[in-house]
Amino acid sequence: MFTDKDIAVLVQQSKLFLQNSSDVNYIENNIEQLRNVLRFHEYRYYVLNDALINDNEYDFLFSLLETAEQKNPSLITKDSPTQRVGSSLNEGFETVQHLVPMLSLDNSYNAEDLQDFDRKVKEVSGLQEIEYCIEPKFDGASISLIYENNLLVRATTRGNGVEGDDITTNIKQIRSIPLSAPFSQYGIEQIEIRGEVIMTKDAFNKYNERLTEQGLPTVANPRNTAAGSLRIKDPKEVANRNLDAFLYHVSYIASSNSSKGGALEMFNSNVTAQISSLSNGGATHAEQLKLLWDCGLRSTEKIKKVAKNIQEVIEYVTTFEQKRDELPYEIDGMVIKVNNLSLQEELGMTSHHPRWAIAYKFKARQATTILKAVEFQVGRTGAITPVAKLEPVFIGGVTVSSISVHNEYYIKEKDLKIGDTVLIERAGDVIPQIVKSVVEKRNGTEKEITFPTTCPVCNNTLFKEDDEAVWRCINIECTAQVVEKIIHFASKDAMDIKSFGEANVRKFYELNLLKDIPEIYKLDFSKIGTLEGFGKKSIDNLQAAIEASKQQPLNRLIYGLGIRFVGETTAKTLANSVEHLLDCKHKTEEDLQQLEDVGIKVAKSIHHFFSNSSNIQMLEELEHLGLQLKNTKKQAVGSGGLAGQTFLFTGTLSKLKRSEAEALAEQQGGIIVSGISAKLNYLVVGVDAGSKLEKAKKINSIKIISEEEFLKLIGG
Ligand code: IVH
Repeated sequence: MFTDKDIAVLVQQSKLFLQNSSDVNYIENNIEQLRNVLRFHEYRYYVLNDALINDNEYDFLFSLLETAEQKNPSLITKDSPTQRVGSSLNEGFETVQHLVPMLSLDNSYNAEDLQDFDRKVKEVSGLQEIEYCIEPKFDGASISLIYENNLLVRATTRGNGVEGDDITTNIKQIRSIPLSAPFSQYGIEQIEIRGEVIMTKDAFNKYNERLTEQGLPTVANPRNTAAGSLRIKDPKEVANRNLDAFLYHVSYIASSNSSKGGALEMFNSNVTAQISSLSNGGATHAEQLKLLWDCGLRSTEKIKKVAKNIQEVIEYVTTFEQKRDELPYEIDGMVIKVNNLSLQEELGMTSHHPRWAIAYKFKARQATTILKAVEFQVGRTGAITPVAKLEPVFIGGVTVSSISVHNEYYIKEKDLKIGDTVLIERAGDVIPQIVKSVVEKRNGTEKEITFPTTCPVCNNTLFKEDDEAVWRCINIECTAQVVEKIIHFASKDAMDIKSFGEANVRKFYELNLLKDIPEIYKLDFSKIGTLEGFGKKSIDNLQAAIEASKQQPLNRLIYGLGIRFVGETTAKTLANSVEHLLDCKHKTEEDLQQLEDVGIKVAKSIHHFFSNSSNIQMLEELEHLGLQLKNTKKQAVGSGGLAGQTFLFTGTLSKLKRSEAEALAEQQGGIIVSGISAKLNYLVVGVDAGSKLEKAKKINSIKIISEEEFLKLIGG
């Protein structure tokens, strides 16, 4: 899509925009160039996976465009990179007709099925050998896109195949799908493209981490999550889930020099006939994939394989099956397509599937085994997790011998009993799940799974909140919880104490060298030195890592405390809302609820933590031991005319960028906070201010001022 020369120019232009970022005229006069630069970097990052600038530089360039467009709304174009963001839907999705019905695929499971398919194709064509194009069969949700005059005008779910839901706004959140593409260069006025929205294993695991952090149940597999994500009504949330897409089929093309009106009339006629008669789309499927790729779309161009005959297909798909786990996303098979488009047309289709394509389904990564026992583990927050112990079974490349069965309800819902034969499924990197118990195999000796009423570690009575599925041990001195808490405190995303992982924590705890978090900072290294496997070097490293962790910023410390529902994001919000962590002692639940994304449940949990005197004692001890409980960012604030005054900016400012305004306030000693609370002095309101303004109006002490008033306040 871009020549080396184009790339050199675009990289140079990126540099110029970064250098001239404060020259408003330069930005405004070259705004389309700036958009192109951003589109180019999106393409490098999301389609090619080969970014040429870092995230901060991209965000900065993006903010330049945003500011320029906000100042001059007439300069905004429909396909500007800023136009992905959409507003939430109140109503349901609109139902729209596909230009051409979305068909399914016939399935094959072995070499014989593929030979049969090939035989039928040969019969129709009279040819000796058929050329095929092979692609992965993505395990996601199918979509249909329409570009008209180079603009993405509509994106639809499959629906019933004839009509689907208009999900354009949600699809625009997927950065690998461009808002515009230069189809007109190929004489194409309108094009309908089919593809699959997927969630990579990485995005899926991150999403589950986020759910866990928020105390929500995790999701079971990337396919359902991708499909579900397309139908949520909040595009921002769709963007947060980092969906991805591959495009694999052109279902309709109208070229600029043919009459366009034919599209819907041709609704039920042969798709490929339209392609070959109306388009410059090429003579083979592979050429169409290349055309899409050349227009900047993430087609299967780079992962497809053209095979000379069915033997090559069989060899390729069987070898590919072995490699499926190496891919960053889930596939459930391969799709084999007759490459020649006029032969596709000749073969036609049934009402269900085209006769020119077939799916080769990989063997399901499922297996049956025996559920031998259920053990109950105690987590960091005291949650009791039942873990099914299985007769070890090899599935999808690994041996599985235990699986979490989550909670009491899950066990009931799946009707699990000890001694049952159970069906296990494993999708890629995703944690194995029990699909069901095979009740037909029961012989009457199976036993009910009984939930304990006391903690399996400390024997204290277990409790359960009415609205929760989880039983908990609430004894904060429960050994299991203490060890898990220390492990979490030292972990990578918290205090990041290198060489102080799970194994060492458990070992030190068992040897009585460590009883609680503060004791990490009081370890007796001379004793550790006598342990097997601890030479001078490893002791030095451990000591240095523990010492270094004292300087970790407040948000990491807060996260490390393992307060229920306080994940990394809430930890940052909380850190930014105080000057010293112990200020939290004085915050009421209502104060806490004023913080961004802090709801009743989270506020209650934070309040509960800071109302507990042993927690306060522990924090005081940590401070005494040299840990950072002060918010150092706030400490750095100067002593200008606004010293100590707190500011929050909301809505879109017209004269300043948000970051500039914040910097100006800070220069004069102001403090930037992230949420509305009684401690906020000034809320500076721009255009389209939302819920923060509403919240602030309810607190009399907050001064609500405009951008102009803010400028006056800081001296013009
Ligand atoms: S071609 C008319 N290619 O699998 C041709 N489909 O089980 C339509 N799928 O409905 C489909 N990867 O959602 C095609 N590389 C690929 C695919 C693919 C996944 C999906 C598609 C289809 C389903 C059939």
